[in-house]
Amino acid sequence: MNYRQLGRAGLKVSELSFGSWVTYGNQVDTRAARELMAAAFDAGVNFFDNAEIYAKGASEEIMGAVLKELGWPRIRYVVSTKFYWGMRTNPNDSNTLNRKYLLHAIDGSLKRLQLDFVDIVYCHRADPTTPIEETVWAMHDIISSGRALYWGTSEWSAAEIRTAWDIADQRNLHKPVVEQPQYNLFHRKRVEDEYKPLCADLGLGLTTWSPLASGLLTGKYRQGIPSGSRGALETYAFLRDGLTDKAKNEIVGRLDGVARDLDCSLAQLALAWCLKNPNVSSVITGATRPEQIAENLKALDTAPKLTSDVLQKIDAAVGSNYS
Ligand SMILES: NC(=O)c1ccc[n+]([C@@H]2O[C@H](COP(=O)([O-])OP(=O)(O)OC[C@H]3O[C@@H](n4cnc5c(N)ncnc54)[C@H](OP(=O)(O)O)[C@@H]3O)[C@@H](O)[C@H]2O)c1
Repeated sequence: MNYRQLGRAGLKVSELSFGSWVTYGNQVDTRAARELMAAAFDAGVNFFDNAEIYAKGASEEIMGAVLKELGWPRIRYVVSTKFYWGMRTNPNDSNTLNRKYLLHAIDGSLKRLQLDFVDIVYCHRADPTTPIEETVWAMHDIISSGRALYWGTSEWSAAEIRTAWDIADQRNLHKPVVEQPQYNLFHRKRVEDEYKPLCADLGLGLTTWSPLASGLLTGKYRQGIPSGSRGALETYAFLRDGLTDKAKNEIVGRLDGVARDLDCSLAQLALAWCLKNPNVSSVITGATRPEQIAENLKALDTAPKLTSDVLQKIDAAVGSNYS
């Protein structure tokens, strides 16, 4: 495993990390999560991503139980959570980043995770109804109280991130050090165009999500929806059109040729492609089975094989079919 700095912050995160969206609480129980996290940790993964909203708190409860059972030294792992959607539909507990919600939310997450602090806390989306200054102060206070060590954003616009950073800079508050955007072969513009200047100017780190586009980039949806896959989940039916998109699956077929030439799997090719971007601090992977973890971690061996020639072949296969 290699470790990269979280942008210009001192924290070091494994290049490949492991998150719990969709899986924990829906497809993976505590016993299975323990097996997956142990396999990841044994291979050097030190960053485990979560969010309050994942399975409405159950994902944090599962991760907390696993961390307790496994008993790793706290210094050896980084845990994150995210706030915005809230757990209920009360005015101050849904779709907000106001001070009241955030200061309640951190306590709820720590209780479910059975931790004294999380390493990174993200504002899971931007909230146009709360002044950014209020959110920055609340995040600063959460960090000052010792309940989180670093903070960042997820899917904020570059302008919003810069505003938050400037407010923190002017008032000597803890600054946002990381953004968590989607990044994969079909979704790259925000990372490559919008956030690139922030990485250079502010030293913003990027921990990126859905590197396999929810499994599409493994090729598993080329012949329809396999049973037991994410695409078969009724509660995530909104993902299905994207996963079974004919044009995208044809592109995946073309990428398969590139992967075969490199003697790697499609998943390894797609993950290695994310790793090639130096602004990416960690590629957050997801998995439902230990075999997937084992396969995906071998993307670390694939990354050096992605020479400029290979990257050109990948670009040719995808063309302009990305957002
Ligand atoms: N900040 C945000 O808004 C946000 C949003 C989404 C995700 N995230 C974070 O990013 C993490 C990763 O996102 P993601 O789960 O969407 O990642 P992904 O890599 O795009 O998809 C992971 C899913 O693909 C399938 N898969 C993984 N490896 C495979 C392999 N080798 N062969 C076949 N199938 C494979 C598994 O699903 P099946 O086995 O069920 O098919 C797995 O759960 C999340 O857990 C979360 O921590 C953040």
